[in-house]
Amino acid sequence: MGSSWVPWVVTLLVTVIRLDSSMTQGRDSPEDFVIQAKADCYFTNGTEKVQFVVRFIFNLEEYARFDSNLGLFVALTELGQPDAELWNNRPDILARSRASVDALCRHNYKLGAPFTVGRKVQPEVTVYPERIPALQHSNLLLCSVTGFYPGDIKITWFRNGQEQREGVMSTGLIRNGDWTFQTMVMLAMTPELGEVYTCLVDHPSLLSPVSVEWRAQSEYSWRKMLSGIAAFLVGLVFLLVGIVIHNRARKGPKSSSSSTATLRS
Ligand SMILES: *[C@@H]1O[C@H](CO)[C@@H](O)[C@H](O)[C@H]1NC(C)=O
Repeated sequence: MGSSWVPWVVTLLVTVIRLDSSMTQGRDSPEDFVIQAKADCYFTNGTEKVQFVVRFIFNLEEYARFDSNLGLFVALTELGQPDAELWNNRPDILARSRASVDALCRHNYKLGAPFTVGRKVQPEVTVYPERIPALQHSNLLLCSVTGFYPGDIKITWFRNGQEQREGVMSTGLIRNGDWTFQTMVMLAMTPELGEVYTCLVDHPSLLSPVSVEWRAQSEYSWRKMLSGIAAFLVGLVFLLVGIVIHNRARKGPKSSSSSTATLRS
């Protein structure tokens, strides 16, 4: 992957270390030191505007760099002057460094873009009240939006089709650290019978925004729903018991007839 720059950076570092050890010999400088080269590609607008920078660092000090915008090596400290001068006088090193904007940066961008800048994962949206809802009792409606990528997302609350700006709070964007995000947007509300609350989510992964509704129902209808579920469960139990009894009743005579069959043969 874009390894063309590695050999020459290593070559440059080796010359640096040789230069450095010859320079530091006979001086009372510390024996241990670290020399690093860090190459960065900066993409401002896809592969339209690309900058390639190699930084040469002695211990913690950057002393020289190659900057593709200049097309040259530049010394940042006195230590870097001999190196920059040396490398700028080497046409092969200059040519390779200048070519890296394409050979390294643009090349790697194309390899990495599909699963980085091009990554899109749809959010999962759920709406629920903070507490068991009761009409005319203040509550908080939560719109939980999870598992999406990238992080730019637009979440809007509506009450009966009217956008709500007051009483809206958000956790802000939460980075999960696994290339997904989550967030929660809350609406302080007091449900009135028949009201419809909608959480509208727009995200680059979606062809059209996703909306999830929550309807304010009377306690009576909540209770009615609960008793409906209970009645259904009781009915289900009776049905299952009935099926079991029915099957046993059918199996009973069959097993006795088969036993008589064996007796006969
Ligand atoms: C980004 O690049 C595109 C071409 O790929 C160009 O049309 C657009 O104007 C550029 N945008 C900026 C902000 O430079």
